Amino acid sequence: MEAAIQSKIEIPRTSEKMDSELSKLGNNLVTKFHVLMRISQIYDSKNVALQQFVQESIHAINTFVQREGSIRLKIVGDDIFLNEQRLRYSVEGFTSFKYLLTQWKKRLIGEVLYKEALDEDALREFIYILMALEDGKEENATLFNETLKDRHLSSIEVGPLEVYEKEEGAYTLEKGDSREIGKKVFFETIGTVKEVITQIKGKQHADVRKLKRLVRKAVHLIMEDESILLGMTTIKNYDEYTFNHSVNVAIYSMAMGRRLGFSRGVLSELGITAMLHDIGKSKIPLEVLNKPAALTDAEWGQMKKHPLTGVEIVLNLKQLGEVNPKMVVGIFDHHLKNDLSGYPKLFHNKRVSLFGRIIQVADAYDAMTTPRIYKKVPLTPGQTLAVMLKDRDVYFDSILLKMFIGLVGVHPIGSLVLLDTHEMGIVFKPNTDPQWIERPHVVLVERDRRGRGKKELVDLTERNGGGRFKRNIVKALDPYKYHVDIAKYFL
Ligand SMILES: [Fe+2]
Ligand SMILES: [Fe+2]
Repeated sequence: MEAAIQSKIEIPRTSEKMDSELSKLGNNLVTKFHVLMRISQIYDSKNVALQQFVQESIHAINTFVQREGSIRLKIVGDDIFLNEQRLRYSVEGFTSFKYLLTQWKKRLIGEVLYKEALDEDALREFIYILMALEDGKEENATLFNETLKDRHLSSIEVGPLEVYEKEEGAYTLEKGDSREIGKKVFFETIGTVKEVITQIKGKQHADVRKLKRLVRKAVHLIMEDESILLGMTTIKNYDEYTFNHSVNVAIYSMAMGRRLGFSRGVLSELGITAMLHDIGKSKIPLEVLNKPAALTDAEWGQMKKHPLTGVEIVLNLKQLGEVNPKMVVGIFDHHLKNDLSGYPKLFHNKRVSLFGRIIQVADAYDAMTTPRIYKKVPLTPGQTLAVMLKDRDVYFDSILLKMFIGLVGVHPIGSLVLLDTHEMGIVFKPNTDPQWIERPHVVLVERDRRGRGKKELVDLTERNGGGRFKRNIVKALDPYKYHVDIAKYFL
C-alpha cells in the first residue's frame, strides 16, 4: 500500500537545484543593483564614486551575458528569478534582495531584460530612468521602454510587475509583519555573528553590542510566536555552517528557555551564550574544522579545546557588560555531556549548568540535521530525535530533551512527510494542544498549472463529515531525494 502511495506522489520539479555558480553570479548581480540604486539616490550621474561602481557592475553584467547570452531578472511573488531560475537568498545578499524587491515593486516594474552586453552609459542611464519613475504608476513599464527607445538603448527592455492573485482556498502563510521581522532579525544576526567571529580571528576588538541588540529582538519574537524563528532554523546553509549553526542553536535554546519560564533578561543571556557557544572554534584552523575525513588525535585535541578557548574569548569581550558567570559556565559546559564523559575533562565532578544542558540539546539537534562537508546528506529531523533519545542518559538531561521534543514536535518542524491522501507536506508548526502532538500543521507541497509552488496550510486535526481525520501522516520522506527545498517554505 505504501508503494502505491509513493508512486502517485508528484515529484516537484528540480528547479531548486540551482547551479551554485549561477547562484553566486546572481547574488552578485542583485548586490550590484542594490548599490547602484542607492548611490543614484545620493549622487548625480557624473559622480566619481558612481562611475567606479558602474565599471565594476558592467564587468559583472557582461561576464554573465557572455556566459548565458542575456540576463532576465524577474520578480515572481517575493522571489527573484534569474533566467528562469529562482535565486536563493544568501546571508550577505538578504538586504540587497529586499531592497531590489521593494524598489521595483514600488514602481510596478517586475522584469528587466539585458539582451546583450552593456556599456557604462547605458547602465547609468538605465538606473537613473528606473529610479525617477513615479511610485505606483501603472504605465511605468511602457514609459520606461519608450524612454529607452528614444535614447537608443535597444539592448534593454523592462516589463510590468505581474500581480498574482492568491489561489482560492489557499491559506496564506504570511503572518504579516512578524514573519518579515523574523527574516530580517535572522539574516542580520547571522551576518553579525560572522562579523564577530571574523574580528576575533583577526585578533581585533570584537563588537558585540549589535549582537546583544539583535538577541533582544529575537527574544521578543520568540515570546510572540516561537514558530517563526523555529521555521528559520530549517535554512541549513552549508557554506555558512558556523554562523548559521550558532544562530540556530540560539533559537532552539531561547525557545526552550521560554518554556522553562525564563524572564526576558535571562532569555537574552541564554541567547547570547548560545550564539557564542562555539566562538572558541574561531581559533581552530579551517583545515581542521572543515576536514572531510576523520580527525587525527592531535586534531581532536585541538577541537576539544574550543569550550575553554571560548571562555577565554568571552572573558575578554568588553561590551558584554558585567561578565556573567551563567554565560561563561554555559560555554564551558556545552560538551561535558550528562554523565561528564565529554570534554573538557574535569578534576572534580560537578553538575552541568542549566545553560550548558540546554545548549547541549540544541547543539546536537542542529549539528545532526545540517549537511556538512563530510556528511552531505544529514539525518532527517525525526531520525535525529531517535538518535538523541537512544543516547539520552549519556548525553542529555532527559527532562530537557523531552521538552525539546515537545518544542519541535514528534514530526519536527521542517520534516517532509507523506500523507495518506497521496500529498506531500512540510511540517510547519507543532499543534499547540499537547494532545495532538502527532498532528501538526502542515504545508502541502503542490504546484499549480504554471508550475509555481502553492502554499496551502492544513491542520492535521481537521476531520471530514464522518468525523474521521482528513489527513494522516504515513511516514517521513527524505527531502534530498525529492529535491524539496524546505527552507523556501519558511522564507
Ligand atoms: Fe561546540
Ligand atoms: Fe556547536
